[in-house]
This record gives sequence, C-alpha cells and structure tokens, in this order.
Amino acid sequence: MKGLTREQEKRVEDLLSRMTLEEKIGQMNQESPSIVGGFDVPFAELIEMMTDGRISKEEFQKIMEGAKQDYHEDEIRKGGVGSLMVQDPVKVNELQKIAVEESRLGIPLIFGLDVIHGFRSVYPIAIAEAGSFDTDLFERTARMAAKESRAAGVAWHFAPMLDVARDARWGRVSEGPGEDPYLGSEFARAKVRGLQNDHSSTENYVAACLKHYVGYGACEAGRDYNTVSMAMHLFYNAYLKPFEAAVDEGAMTVMAAFNDLNGVPCTVNEFLLRKTLKESLGFPGFVVSDANAIRECVVHGIAEDDRDAGIKAALAGMDMDMGTEIYSKELKSAVEEGLLPMEVIDEAARRILSVKMWLGLFDNPYVSEEAMARYKVLPKEHRDLALEAAEKSVVLLKNEGNVLPLKEDARISLVGTLAESREEIIGAWAMSWKEEDCVTIRAGMEETFKNLRYFRCGGPEGDINMDEVLSAGDYGDVIVAVLGELVSMSGEASSKADITIPGRQRELLEMLMHTGKPVVLLLMNGRPLALDWEYNYVPVIVEGWQLGIEMGHAVANVLSGRVNPEGRLSSSFPAMTGQCPVYYNHMNTGRPGSKSKFTSRYLDAPLDSLYPFGYGLSYTSYEYSGLAVKEEGDALEIDVTVKNAGGRDGRETVQLYMQDVTASLVRPVKELKAFRKAELKAGESKSIHFTLPKKDMGFYDNEKVYRLEDGLFRIYAGGNSRDCLMEEIRVAF
Ligand code: NOJ
Repeated sequence: MKGLTREQEKRVEDLLSRMTLEEKIGQMNQESPSIVGGFDVPFAELIEMMTDGRISKEEFQKIMEGAKQDYHEDEIRKGGVGSLMVQDPVKVNELQKIAVEESRLGIPLIFGLDVIHGFRSVYPIAIAEAGSFDTDLFERTARMAAKESRAAGVAWHFAPMLDVARDARWGRVSEGPGEDPYLGSEFARAKVRGLQNDHSSTENYVAACLKHYVGYGACEAGRDYNTVSMAMHLFYNAYLKPFEAAVDEGAMTVMAAFNDLNGVPCTVNEFLLRKTLKESLGFPGFVVSDANAIRECVVHGIAEDDRDAGIKAALAGMDMDMGTEIYSKELKSAVEEGLLPMEVIDEAARRILSVKMWLGLFDNPYVSEEAMARYKVLPKEHRDLALEAAEKSVVLLKNEGNVLPLKEDARISLVGTLAESREEIIGAWAMSWKEEDCVTIRAGMEETFKNLRYFRCGGPEGDINMDEVLSAGDYGDVIVAVLGELVSMSGEASSKADITIPGRQRELLEMLMHTGKPVVLLLMNGRPLALDWEYNYVPVIVEGWQLGIEMGHAVANVLSGRVNPEGRLSSSFPAMTGQCPVYYNHMNTGRPGSKSKFTSRYLDAPLDSLYPFGYGLSYTSYEYSGLAVKEEGDALEIDVTVKNAGGRDGRETVQLYMQDVTASLVRPVKELKAFRKAELKAGESKSIHFTLPKKDMGFYDNEKVYRLEDGLFRIYAGGNSRDCLMEEIRVAF
C-alpha cells in the first residue's frame, strides 16, 4: 500500500498468511460500546423519548448513569473485532491490551471517533471554517485535532465530511465545506494533510475518513437519508470532486453514505466503491459503512435479509461493517458456501491491516502516561488557534450606518439565551470538549465591553419573556441580540422545512427594534437561514455560526473592531426557504429568470440568493478594476487590481470564477477556479495574479470523458460570486 515501507508490507502479508477466516472477518467488524441493562424501555426508544421531548436531556443522562456498557471484551479476545469507537484513553489501553496481549495474533484495534471540527479544542463548524477560505488554517486545525485525539488513543477521525451541500434545509450542511466543489476540494486536501502528514511521531497523525461517499448532500428536498438521483456529469464535476482531491492527497479511509445513488445504496454500490473509488481513483485504504447501514439495505429494499445485505456489501467493496455485526455473523458461512470469494475477505483484511500498520499501531498500540497527562490543561497555543479560526470565520452580512465596530465603552444591552450557553457555541458532533474551556458570548463580551447589561429574554428553545424585554427600561446605546438555532437544530437528522429564525425570535427582534436603539443581530446557527425579514428591517447582521470554544472572545474582538471581519459564506443564503436549493453555480437554462413571466423564476420569491456564496463585508471596502485576461502557452494569465478604498487595513479574499459559455453540455453560470488572500493597508492597491491552467477549464461528460472544448469563456474576478468584473476570451485547446 502507498505509504507503507516494503518491510511493513511484508509484515502485513505475513500476518495475513497466518490468519484464519474468522480472524480476517474479525478485522472487518467495528463495534461501539453497547449499552446494556438499567432501562425499563429499549435504548432506541429512550433516545427517541429524549429527542421528541418526552424526557429531558437531564432525565436521559440520569437513566444512562444506571446503565452498563458492553465493550465486547470477549469478542476482542477471540480476534473478532477490528475497531471500536471509544475516546477514553484508559479504556483504550484496557481494550488494546486485550487485543494485543490476549488475542491469538495480537493485532491492535483501531479506535475511531467523530472528530469533525476539533477534539478538545473545538473549532468552528466546517461550514463556517470553510468560509475563512484559508487553506493553511484548515490544515493547522486538523493537525491540532489529530494531536489532541491521538493523545487520547483515537487514531482515526470520521472526517473530513466532504458532501457538497446546496440545500440549506438539510441539517448536515453544518458539517461540511459548503456548496462549491473547488472550495470543497481545497478544504479536503488541506484536512487530509493536517490529519495525516505529520509523521515526526506516531502521536501526531491519524487516519482521515472521507465521508459520506457520495452524493449524500443532494438528498431529495433536503430531507436527511433521502434518495439521491443525479446526472453523471453532475456527479463527476461536482459531488465526486472533493473526494477525488482527498484521495489524491493520500486519504487512508472512506465512509460510504447512507443514501442510494441513482437507485443503488452507496453501501452496496459496486460502481462507487470498487469501480470508481478503488479501481479508477486508486484508493489504497479501506472503506467503512455508516452506522447500521448494511442492515438498512434490507429496509431500502435492495437485500432480502441481513445475510444478503452483508454479502452484497462485501462484494461491492465495503471493507468494514460499522455496528451491525452482520459481517461477523454471516460472512464465514457465505465464503464456505461459495457465495463470497475468499479474495474479497483477503482484500478487506489487507487494507485494514495496512492502515493500522501505517498508523504505527503495531509498534505503539498504547497511549502513554505522558500523553494522557499532556493536555490536562489546554495549552495556550491550542486556545490561540481556536481563537484565530473563530475570528476568521465570522461573516459580516450587513452594517448599515456603520454601527459596527462598537466602542469599548459603549453602553451595550446583550440579549438572548444563546449568549450565555457553552453548549450552543460548540456545534454538532463535538464530543470531547470541556465546559471549563468554553468562552460564552456573554463572558467574551464582558471582558471587552465594560458597560454591558445582559437580558436573557429568550431564544430558539422556546418562549420569549416579553416582560423582561419591556421592563429593561434604558437599553443603552446599542442592542446586541444573539439569536438563531440550537445545536440540535442542525447536524444529522435535523432537516427543516422552514429555515427562518425559529420560534418567537423574530417577535423578540421586532420588540427590540421598537426601542429605537440600533440593533446588531448576531446569528448563531448551523445552516444558512432565510433572512428576508431581517435583511429588510435590521440594520446590522453578523453571521456568527457556532464557532467553538473561543467563540466569546472572537465575537467580542470582531464587534469591537480589534479584528476586522474577513469571513465569507461557503453557502448561499436564500431570502425564503422555498428557494432551496439555491446556489451560485447552478446550470444555465434556456429561459434564465428575469422580470418577464415565462422565465425560470418564482412568482412570490426573488430569483437570486439573498447573500451569495463568497459574500462577506469588512470594516473597510474594496474596489476591483483592470481585469485583464490573456492566453499564454498552456494557461490563462489573469490580473486584477484590488484597492482597499476604506480607512482600515484588511484582508480581502479575491475570487476567480469562470463560465464555459458554449459547450456540448450545459455548464454552470459560474464556477470558482481559484482564490487568493490579499493583505491591503488602508488606501493600498495591489495587482493580484492568477494562472488558470487550460487543462483545468474542462468538464466531464456523462460517460466520464474529460472534455476540453474550444470556444468562448467568461472570466470573472471579485469579492464574492455575484459582484464581479468580467472579461471574455476565446480559447483553443
Ligand atoms: C452516522 C453519521 O452519518 C456519520 O457521519 C458518523 O461518522 C457515524 N454515524 C459514526 O458516528
């Protein structure tokens, strides 16, 4: 396998030659601690009871305390488990000891976990971090997460999540880098480098797991787990792209998606797993299913029973079963009965053992005492990185009347329950954070602004306390209202049919507006929201997402102007939910939407997004001029002048887009091709240069033929996907 020395490859082969069929299948089995005993109702129902509000989170936790965990020690001892989801280093060592010292061949376990946007240091959710357009940052946060988790024994991250996501109703838009395949690919490469490339010690890297392979983000109507149908040109040019980039960068594992793609669930999809990923892209590592997904193929109606599903998945190229034990129970007899070739098992076991070898688990299976103690207190450089990432991810959407930045002695009324919450700054899928590390918005603001009063008033979780709003009396100079979504409103299984600010928060906002004080709406949310009303009535809107443990400081620094905001939107924001999916790089139509009736538009909603991909303001302004495009050899050489026309230094994200105007297939109206950061002092101008290799100007057709077609191209440069300069050029390839 790429990445292994010859010696290591030999060790894998030697091991394989000594393994029994059961032991090989054991490697293909991933378990998570199952919860046993202690309940009057089944565990699945308990979860449902908590989710639908029949019991509170606290009650659920109380019940859980009475439960016992089964860590599958006996199966590990028998060589029947290849991987486990555990994050406690003491437990990791205990279970690893059984695998290494008590199983026949002493093969170490690989411990995996959802470390999506940080381990103990929690960074902004991916949709937010992607908006920093800072590939170096993407890499550094991944590297830090790898170090922190490895010190707890977690050597495998179920990340990065690379689903191109264009429908904000889908709750999982929060977990990935947004709507654009190019930004997604840059994010993918950087994350793989960060997670995997620091081999100065085995404690510094982990195996990445690209997910969810593939097309999950295109689930119909944004409803989670829903069916996915797409034309193959879209598959190759958009949805596959970030995965292709990450495999090229050396990613070690991939997780198949829950959904079907054009009728075949990804879990049993031979075209996707074996043909495309392993054969065509040359992916050397192993594929894991999503949780319970092999069994769900029966529910999909694609397999008759567990056994049939297991055989179909293994044949398709699924190497590891997450959570169902179907492989453990069914594959041995399937091989013995000739239903499954032995080579399929050998291949899967080889791939899994190779990744374990690459991770150094055979030589260093345990977490050292020193590593366990290393991050007892979060080191300053970890906090600094979390702060930098959070600051760079804040997006200033509107700043009418230059209300921002606020003076540090301004009299501020801070409103909203979200401002006080530690949990809500963290975002979905963070599991290893500690309360003591979290800086709430209130705490961060109080450090900076000395004249601050706080009013809870309410938030997304329920009622608004109007009395509290009315009795405040003097609201000071300015109101900062922290409103938006709860963490539980985005992420997995959190699709929404209405993505306006939930609950009665708009009423609260209206009341606050009636005070006559300028209102700064600071949003916290895990998806683009439909902000039509807010856009029309609220003077200042700041997109704060869920920025992780340093959110409070980051927000205070941006609102006070200590930091000039530079974050951009990695996903377009609609004006109304009914516009979803809305994204900048949509296909052209024969009747592009316009004011006239028989065009592609809505009667009751705007045509365009409210805030487009790439959008974000700062406390200065930038002017673009002099776009020049010329063909030189194998590339287009492009220059554009960017001027900081305002009174403050800043960092602009200069974006380059392209449109293939006439092609044999309909192409998107714009496609991001490159971006650059430009540091500009107040008043300064810079010429920004891009080289666009002509080989990157093509596209795949439905048969996967890459086409470079002569003709007219439009080149756009600007500060977001909507407001750009444009030049046309004819190109021959
Ligand atoms: C389900 C989710 O779809 C996936 O993203 C996650 O990694 C697994 N469960 C494991 O928790």
